[in-house]
Amino acid sequence: MSGLTRIAILGGRGMLGSDLAKALRTCAIEPVVYDLPEFDLTRAEHVARALVDVDWVVNCAAYTNVDGAETDQARAYQVNAEAVGQMGQSAAQAGVPVMHISTDFVFDGQGDQPYTEADTPNPISVYGASKWQGEQALTHAGGSHCIVRVQWTYGHAGTNFIKKICERARTQGQLKVVEDQIGSPTATEEVARALIELMRKQAQGLYHYASHGYVSRFHMAEFLIRQLGLDVTVEPCKTSEFICPAARPLNSRFDCKKVSKLLDQPITSWQEALTHYLEQL
Ligand SMILES: NC(=O)c1ccc[n+]([C@@H]2O[C@H](COP(=O)([O-])OP(=O)(O)OC[C@H]3O[C@@H](n4cnc5c(N)ncnc54)[C@H](OP(=O)(O)O)[C@@H]3O)[C@@H](O)[C@H]2O)c1
Repeated sequence: MSGLTRIAILGGRGMLGSDLAKALRTCAIEPVVYDLPEFDLTRAEHVARALVDVDWVVNCAAYTNVDGAETDQARAYQVNAEAVGQMGQSAAQAGVPVMHISTDFVFDGQGDQPYTEADTPNPISVYGASKWQGEQALTHAGGSHCIVRVQWTYGHAGTNFIKKICERARTQGQLKVVEDQIGSPTATEEVARALIELMRKQAQGLYHYASHGYVSRFHMAEFLIRQLGLDVTVEPCKTSEFICPAARPLNSRFDCKKVSKLLDQPITSWQEALTHYLEQL
């Protein structure tokens, strides 16, 4: 187990980055937060500055507008792929290990089994393809690194699908939610704790991390409505009924056995973590 004192978080004011900063402070580890506009991952001199005097650099910075990426392809690849490769090379030269965050969108979601780290990605959107290219660029950079793929994340900063469903449930009497997308709603607070443990244990390589258990977005919405005690009808529908610029994987399930073996505690169920989140909202 390694002692951590100071960690750089790129994209540190985003949804995951801000919860990671909070979790580090709780563990008496100093987070050094970098984000737009004063820090740009695509600027080598900004990255070089972030690598000074830190135990790890965690890359939570990303172009995360999934639909926007379909038209803004150049920017998506620049931030999610090219900049990640360059950051990996700079970190390798500086001798700083990189913790990089990726996504279930690297998969096509066509399989009916949970995805393991050994499964071959086959992205079906520009965002997914740019993130997959970023993973490969970081690996080819040759430095010490750990890539953690997460999915269906929600936290306190910014907006997310949980907040959106809650808002729509409170303002409309009826909700229509897709029943053919299956995954694990995962709290960024939980991800942050896992990332710290992985860094303490000097984890290397690729890991899938998600809350325990699987659910469709429709059944998750029903769970939310029940927890909130709202009188709202939730109607199931198909992903094909919503026309979106970017395709979404239907099967987002992760097999988390590899990461579970490294973590001291069992991974929290999605129901428990979500209930805790709703109590804080
Ligand atoms: N949210 C999900 O459901 C989900 C699921 C799977 C994986 N992930 C991954 O999780 C990681 C964290 O995402 P998140 O959910 O925390 O998203 P987020 O809230 O959008 O955070 C990303 C942060 O990166 C910043 N950023 C964008 N371009 C940048 C650049 N060129 N230089 C520096 N910072 C830049 C963003 O700033 P602006 O807000 O100003 O653009 C934002 O603060 C990402 O790698 C994402 O791909 C997310």
